[in-house]
Amino acid sequence: MNKQFSIAIDGPSGAGKSSVAKICARELRAIYLDTGAMYRAVGLYMLRNGIDLDDEAAIAAAMPGVKVDVQYVDGEQRVFLDREDVSRAIRGEDVSRAASRVSRVESVREAMVQMQRDIARGKNVVMDGRDIGTRVLPDATLKIFLTADVEARAARRFAENQEKGIRDSYEQVLESIIERDRLDTSRAASPLMKAKDAIEMDSTHLSLEQVAGHVLELARTILEENCP
Ligand code: DC
Repeated sequence: MNKQFSIAIDGPSGAGKSSVAKICARELRAIYLDTGAMYRAVGLYMLRNGIDLDDEAAIAAAMPGVKVDVQYVDGEQRVFLDREDVSRAIRGEDVSRAASRVSRVESVREAMVQMQRDIARGKNVVMDGRDIGTRVLPDATLKIFLTADVEARAARRFAENQEKGIRDSYEQVLESIIERDRLDTSRAASPLMKAKDAIEMDSTHLSLEQVAGHVLELARTILEENCP
């Protein structure tokens, strides 16, 4: 496959976007960009600096001091905040909530979208997030909108957390996902929504390998049609 391509995978928290995106990127030899990690790094900065997360003007005013960077170490994405590798520190539920809050602010989104486009330029990418198909890569080769029942999403996130040693209870994770769904879909700036030309997939009763298999099939079909 010689043609440059990009795959956008959007959807709510815990639908399995990152697992599916990682498998697809590996199979297609593309880079994987987890855009949520970038909003999480911004959220962590605001938490560490005591910025009121309900004060959008204060968040916007703090943005010039936020130095987020993404690098690939042994093929794995690492996220840096002021040169500190915060890839692990951004995974707790407190940072999840902070990320949801900072991502409502348009100036935060503008900075992140610019970085995401810069990282993607000239490369084959699989990107996951909330606004990839609607804003970051409106001309993506393939757009997927991945959903699942909220309980299934909470159970998956809980299991992932356990593996990473994050000790939040299932109830805390469920509550946090419900709250984040509300924030992500109701915000004015690039709310979570399916792009008109995205293909919706429900992963509630499928393994993430099965979902990735479907996405890969679609991607290969499109790429073969475009460059036989
Ligand atoms: O995918 P995630 O759970 O790591 O994302 C954390 C938060 O960041 C999520 O609640 C919403 C926000 N986000 C966003 O607004 N746009 C993106 N492209 C990715 C994440």
